[in-house]
Amino acid sequence: MLRAFARTAGLVAGLWAALGSTLFAASMAPVPGEPEVWITVDDTVFAAVTSVFDSGPGSEFLPFLPRIAERRGVVLTALPQSALEALSERIHRDFRRCGGFVKHESLAEAREALERLERPVQPAVPLALPFSIDRPTVVAPLVAAIDETSILATITALSTGFTNRYHAHASGTNAANAIKAQWEGYAAGHPGVTVELYSHGGVTPQPSVVATVPGSTLADQIVIVGAHEDSIRSGCSGNPGCVAPGADDDASGVASISEALRILLAAGIQPQRTIQFMAYAAEEVGLDGSDDIAADYLAAGKQVVAVLQADMTAFQGSPIDITIIQDSAYTNAELNQFVGGLVDAYLPALSRGTSFCGYGCSDHASWNVRGYPAAMAFEAPYPGSYNTALHTPQDTVATFGGTAAHAAKFARIAVAFAVEAALDWTPGIFADDFESSGLGNWSNSLP
Ligand code: BES
Ligand code: ZN
Repeated sequence: MLRAFARTAGLVAGLWAALGSTLFAASMAPVPGEPEVWITVDDTVFAAVTSVFDSGPGSEFLPFLPRIAERRGVVLTALPQSALEALSERIHRDFRRCGGFVKHESLAEAREALERLERPVQPAVPLALPFSIDRPTVVAPLVAAIDETSILATITALSTGFTNRYHAHASGTNAANAIKAQWEGYAAGHPGVTVELYSHGGVTPQPSVVATVPGSTLADQIVIVGAHEDSIRSGCSGNPGCVAPGADDDASGVASISEALRILLAAGIQPQRTIQFMAYAAEEVGLDGSDDIAADYLAAGKQVVAVLQADMTAFQGSPIDITIIQDSAYTNAELNQFVGGLVDAYLPALSRGTSFCGYGCSDHASWNVRGYPAAMAFEAPYPGSYNTALHTPQDTVATFGGTAAHAAKFARIAVAFAVEAALDWTPGIFADDFESSGLGNWSNSLP
């Protein structure tokens, strides 16, 4: 504990020099020139953090956090931009959570996010849920074709080919370009399939990458499979030379969904709904890339019917293979059941469980808070069994045993998700498929 404290103290030494006398200020009068940011945080974390920081050891490293507003157990507070990292580290250290907060660009935007929690926006999304699981003759061969070695190659390339993939550094943009090039390779020879950089203007210099497989009869309805491309190392993000391999967080997720895309295209699947694969920018600094895209989609009236997030897929920390995150504000219960149903139908040998992040811990949150149904499949029960090397230089392939066997399970789920969500039920045509496939007695009803 003491050593951890000393380390944190070292990392933020000087951070507060500029803030001087405001350290113990009872209100957050912004220091001239110091941008203020607004965050929303789970009230249990807020209470614990403020009780630590109001007095006692460590209080000198974070300012007083005002309780500006609260909705549904989520507190809105404000702090200087430069204090974010210290807060994130403190939550990580003391509460074994990562970050534990969502950052907002303005007070108005933060208040809007809180209001959304109260009354989730209901975009004009056609009633697609619940999805039936009824395409075994299409899905099972794709699941079987997922190749672990190609996933390992992608994780290795992303985690060793760049010093870091931090959103604000050139290496972060280089990583986005590398993902684009890889996906373009998969799309070659598939007219209609596009791979594009999605620029985020002033939000972040790092572009997201979006691959689109156009739908046929239901093309306006969009199914999204995503992961985040950026990486971060706690305590040294300002330095372009900072080593942040992010092999598990989240090169693994990018690799899992890349393999799903590769197999989907190689098989020549023609979806009815449009499928988009997204490698999001700037997740680690507040879900910025996905937040920008989801806001654009909502403003444009796009109909996103299902979103799957793969964030950390490579570290098998428990006998439970697949952990489906359940936070009610950030995931959709029906879609979570669908993901569980896919595991039971197509990967029956795997065990699955549930966990709560307790906050909007990854890009699924950006969609779900806007009323677009989202789910997140995670590597292990949280907290407790996940890869605690995340956000450190030790987040390497070696830390998860040099194998992509675990990440391959998530690629199989991703490809099954994309196909089953993007193919509508066609009465009469596929009704007998499942029984004849020998994959089990799936009765088209959710568990
Ligand atoms: N992969 C993590 C989130 C995570 C960690 C999920 C452990 C489940 C278990 C992700 O990349 C991350 O660090 N997210 C940020 C989000 C925040 C900036 C809004 C976090 O948790 O700090
Ligand atoms: Zn992550």
